[in-house]
Amino acid sequence: MPSLVILISGRGSNMQALLEARLPARIAAVIGSRPDAAGLEIARRHELETKVVDPRSYLDRAAYDAALAEAIDACVPDLIVLAGFMRILGTAFVERYQGKLMNVHPSLLPAFPGLDTHARALREGVRIHGCTVHFVTPEVDHGPIIAQAAVPVWPEDTPDTLAARVLRQEHRIYPEAVRWFLQGRLSIVDGRVRLAGAMATDDTLNSPESAT
Ligand code: GAR
Repeated sequence: MPSLVILISGRGSNMQALLEARLPARIAAVIGSRPDAAGLEIARRHELETKVVDPRSYLDRAAYDAALAEAIDACVPDLIVLAGFMRILGTAFVERYQGKLMNVHPSLLPAFPGLDTHARALREGVRIHGCTVHFVTPEVDHGPIIAQAAVPVWPEDTPDTLAARVLRQEHRIYPEAVRWFLQGRLSIVDGRVRLAGAMATDDTLNSPESAT
C-alpha cells in the first residue's frame, strides 16, 4: 500500500479530512513544525506516528530543510501532503520531492498567494473565491494546479465567514486530489496537470446570479 507523510503547522482540519476520507494509503507519519500544533493531538488520537521538526531548533532554512527531509525520508513516503504547513520550503528541498509534494491553498491561484487571502479577496471585491490543490514548486503558493473549488462571495461576508465557506471546499477537494494521485491518474504535461478519465462539462458558475 502506498504511504503518505502529512505536514502541518496548526489546527489540522485538512489533515483530519484526509484521515476521514479512508484513502487507499498508509499514513506513515504526521510531522508538525510546532510542538503545540493542535493537529498533532488529532493525529495521536488516530494512533498515527507524530514527529515535530521545529524551526526554532535550527540555525537557518537549509539546516531546517535538511532535518525535515531526514524525518520524511525515514518514512519513505510516496507522497508528501502539506496541510496548512506554514513554512516556506527552500528550492533544494522542493526539487528533491518534485511531483511528490502537494499543497492546499485558500484562494483560486494564481490569485492571492501568501497570507490573509480571504481579507484580500474581500478588499478586491471579487465575486468568486475558492481554494486550490497544486503540486509544489520553489515559488511560494505556485505550481501545477490539480483541483480548484469556487465559492460565491456575499456582500455581508467577513474574512471568517468566507474562510469557513472555502475551508469546507478544501476538505472536499484535497482528499479527492490525493486519491487521484494514489490511483496514478495525475501526470504533468508541459507544466500542467492532466487527470486521466476526467469528464469535461460546459457548466458555468455565476456570482451573483444574473439579475432578472
Ligand atoms: C488552510 O486553510 C490551508 O489552505 C492554509 O492554511 C489553513 C490550514 O488549516 N494553507 C495555506 O495558507 C498555505 N499557503 P488546517 O490546519 O485546519 O488544515
